[in-house]
Amino acid sequence: MKETAKIILDGKTYELPVIIGSEGEKAVDIRKFKQETGCITYDPGFGSTGSCKSSITFMDGEKGILRYRGIPIEQLAEKSTFVETAYLLINGALPNSHELNQIRVHLNDYSMVHEDMQDFFKNYPRASHPMGILSAMVNALRSFYPELLTTEETLSATFLRLLSKVRTLAAMSYKISRGHKVIYPRQNYTYCANFLNMMFDSPVRHYEINEDLVRALNIFWILHADHEQNCSTAAVRVVGSGQVNIYAAISAGIAALWGPLHGGANQAVIHMLENITTNGGDVNWAINKAKDRNDPFRLMGFGHRVYKTYDPRAKIMKKMCDVVLSNLTKADPLLDIARKLEEAALKDDYCVDHNLYPNVDFYSGIVLRAMGIPTTMFPVMFAIGRLPGWISQWKESIDDPDWRLSRPRQVYTGPTKIDYIPLEKRK
Ligand code: CMC
Repeated sequence: MKETAKIILDGKTYELPVIIGSEGEKAVDIRKFKQETGCITYDPGFGSTGSCKSSITFMDGEKGILRYRGIPIEQLAEKSTFVETAYLLINGALPNSHELNQIRVHLNDYSMVHEDMQDFFKNYPRASHPMGILSAMVNALRSFYPELLTTEETLSATFLRLLSKVRTLAAMSYKISRGHKVIYPRQNYTYCANFLNMMFDSPVRHYEINEDLVRALNIFWILHADHEQNCSTAAVRVVGSGQVNIYAAISAGIAALWGPLHGGANQAVIHMLENITTNGGDVNWAINKAKDRNDPFRLMGFGHRVYKTYDPRAKIMKKMCDVVLSNLTKADPLLDIARKLEEAALKDDYCVDHNLYPNVDFYSGIVLRAMGIPTTMFPVMFAIGRLPGWISQWKESIDDPDWRLSRPRQVYTGPTKIDYIPLEKRK
């Protein structure tokens, strides 16, 4: 017999079907609830609401598990590349060597962007944040590449075009934001090496590719590639549900990612660690501020809606800090502060009670700094990494037979009907 849930409302019992996922998690299906009861459910921030069924990513927040298409994140970080992981997320299975070679060829073919795009964005104000430029550029792709997505083949070309061009556009947004000459993609470099070269090569100084950094960048982007129904992915699905083109939906995802509670947290972590340094390096200063109810300050890079234990991505990122810094024979004083802050937070009663463990953003900024990535580019780095996730979630949503226009309801709390008062009679 199928499991059901019962709700008693105004003395009447309603029986609701229960959906069970492949890992045993349960959801009460409330699709007919409004129609049958006249009542809606209330869940700000959607902490108890499932918006879709998805076969892409599995997370267990209590146990600290993250898997893409069933494969543990630890295995992908150790053995895969970002391009292979992107294929896995979008197509549902790892590519064979022929498929992988084909993608590499296509990524090279699509790596250039229309020269007019460069001219268009050169007039952006110099101090613009690269996330603002990137979001606008991705939305503009629809105008520069207006081909319609009709067949499986054109759809797949659009995904590869996005993956390749977003990397070029991201590096371009950085060069433009600095007023520097844009560096073109090169056919003889891998995806990650190409990005580093477009960021750091210049007409006056040749950039030497460091394979350790290329590997670190692969891992960084694999760790960010998908995270089920997070804020930016939900934005992509919600905006996509109105049947806008994919570029507009992804551009909305980039805008959603920008904020400090989501993809902008990596940038905010560095500012927090710098502030701790300015305040004499006392990590308890930050913990006490976070605990003070009258202070809006939060420990950036700590806490997560789903993880109630250590974020598995943060564990890998923490190890990467040591590897990257030792490979570069570099030290970063902020790493020392970060370690002390983590140690103090894990012992602090408030942080323990609120499940405040480091999340992926806590150590990622230190890895990016070691690579030479400027702080304003940190959310952009997150965005390039999350792109395969957004694409696969968008694709899954348009193929979903249960998919409908996203349109939440509300509980109205404003005034009941009042009559219009003519201007001369208003106080
Ligand atoms: N510092 C201090 N207190 C916190 C923090 C924090 N980082 N995070 C949550 N809390 C407290 C919050 O004050 C509240 O306390 P109380 O119940 O006593 O009033 C309680 O924990 C629940 O807070 P919430 O905002 O309802 O929890 P949430 O599940 O919505 O928060 C979060 C998730 C990520 C927005 C939050 O933990 C946060 O603001 N963290 C800092 C920003 C950050 O690191 N974001 C990156 C997240 S990982 C990357 C990604 O996937 O986006």
